[in-house]
Amino acid sequence: MAGARAPLLEVTGLAKAFGPNAVLRDVSLRVLPASIHALLGENGAGKSTLTRILLGMERADAGAVLLGGAPYAPASAERARRAGVVLVPQERTLCAHLTVADNVVLGIEPAARARLGIRDRARARAVAREAIALVAADPARVPLDAPAGELGVADQQLVEIARALAQGGVREGGRLAARLLVLDEPTSSLGHEDAARLFERVRALRDAGLAVLLVTHFLSDVAAHADRYTVLRDGRVAGEGDPREAAPAQIVREMLGRAFEEAREGAAPDAAPPGSGEVVLDARDVSGVKRPERASLTLRRGEILGIAGLVGSGRTELLRVLAGLDPKRSGTVTLRAPRGVGLLSEDRGGEGLMLGRSIAENIWLSPRAPRFAAPGSLLAEASRWIEELAIRAGGPDQRAGELSGGNQQKVQLARLLREDVDVLLVDEPTRGIDVASKAQVLSLLRDLAAAGKAIVLVSSRLDELVTTCDRIAVLRRGALGPPRPASSWTEASLLLEASS
Ligand SMILES: Nc1ncnc2c1ncn2[C@@H]1O[C@H](COP(=O)(O)OP(=O)(O)OP(=O)(O)O)[C@@H](O)[C@H]1O
Ligand SMILES: [Mg+2]
Repeated sequence: MAGARAPLLEVTGLAKAFGPNAVLRDVSLRVLPASIHALLGENGAGKSTLTRILLGMERADAGAVLLGGAPYAPASAERARRAGVVLVPQERTLCAHLTVADNVVLGIEPAARARLGIRDRARARAVAREAIALVAADPARVPLDAPAGELGVADQQLVEIARALAQGGVREGGRLAARLLVLDEPTSSLGHEDAARLFERVRALRDAGLAVLLVTHFLSDVAAHADRYTVLRDGRVAGEGDPREAAPAQIVREMLGRAFEEAREGAAPDAAPPGSGEVVLDARDVSGVKRPERASLTLRRGEILGIAGLVGSGRTELLRVLAGLDPKRSGTVTLRAPRGVGLLSEDRGGEGLMLGRSIAENIWLSPRAPRFAAPGSLLAEASRWIEELAIRAGGPDQRAGELSGGNQQKVQLARLLREDVDVLLVDEPTRGIDVASKAQVLSLLRDLAAAGKAIVLVSSRLDELVTTCDRIAVLRRGALGPPRPASSWTEASLLLEASS
């Protein structure tokens, strides 16, 4: 046991409610210094709320927190940072058009700038350089003067971490002032290799003494990288331990409060003979402004065509060109889809949801929505979707912005499904979604295909593609390979093809 070490963070009996909705109830947990502590739980379990309390962004209703043995109840994020607690939030925060260096020091308030000794641009740059050096194994990959938006998603994530660390303070010589780094789903938009690269850096930070509280839905990451885990269920601690000693099935049971049957995996793809349905989308030599490069594909009713590819390979661009949202440089897209094409965007905050509007309005508002609808029918329909997709919400009139990240993703999916289009282009539909809901979303896609829809599924999770799709094609630097039956691919062969 590592019981001899005093915990850095000790949370006891923490409670928090939003109105009548108790989100955290009697939560206790201890995080040791120089450790990676995973925080797990279903969508809406209270993980992000706990992290926001630790960061002074929400106030707890009851309970006590000790940091380094001293009472800790930060009144603001700035106070938290001053105490050495920093956060990389669930939603991305970089400004795409600003440089890496500017992003790293952006938002460090004047008082903190004085405290950190950031007197001028030269010192700000030095701080940015030191912070980047801490997180990037190869700082040359993350040039200080590059616009952040030009980096790959994985490198952007490293910049987010560098920024959090810089806000906690980086002393001369690159020594960290931060003591606790909270990462809320840092790998949800990363493929396997990028996630591995990120964890290698996070482990190095841990080995340098930092405590890391890691919120994630990926049990494999927990088993591989975490020293301890805590499971939240309905705002209570439902399990904790050493992830190397706990079987994944046990952790899942703790998350769900019941045993979990894996999705009807493997069985589905052969249900309908692929290749027999009518062609609804035919793309010939389609090139986008940057990507894709002369991509061709044929999509038939009743099938799910998977697209595998590393982040940055042009997956999102491909879907956008097929959907007609981005211009083509050349090629043709022929559609035979009277009910149209719908796209589920991977960017739920930016182009996905109106966070200030209700769930019902978000589900209902779309270009294809009828102009008039009785408010009552709108709410009733939203309630049906809330049930169908197990969206955890107070009701259809709750603001979308108040939902947990995974539940926001489900609202977006509900809107797409409601449009009842013929062709669904879905970009990372399970991002940020917990294990049980994930299986549910994937089997919903299978059901839609069985009902005659045609689906293109982009996912960073190769296991998901192999078990859900009929055919899979690999996109590599903008070039789309020929689709092959899913049964002829394995995760390993997809990864090899995508990264070769
Ligand atoms: N400002 C708020 N007002 C009302 N309810 C809120 C607010 N913030 C969070 N909630 C509710 O608290 C619950 C827990 O949300 P939280 O974001 O902590 O979940 P989570 O465990 O991070 O989930 P996910 O895995 O989906 O990110 C949810 O039901 C959410 O709707
Ligand atoms: Mg969350």
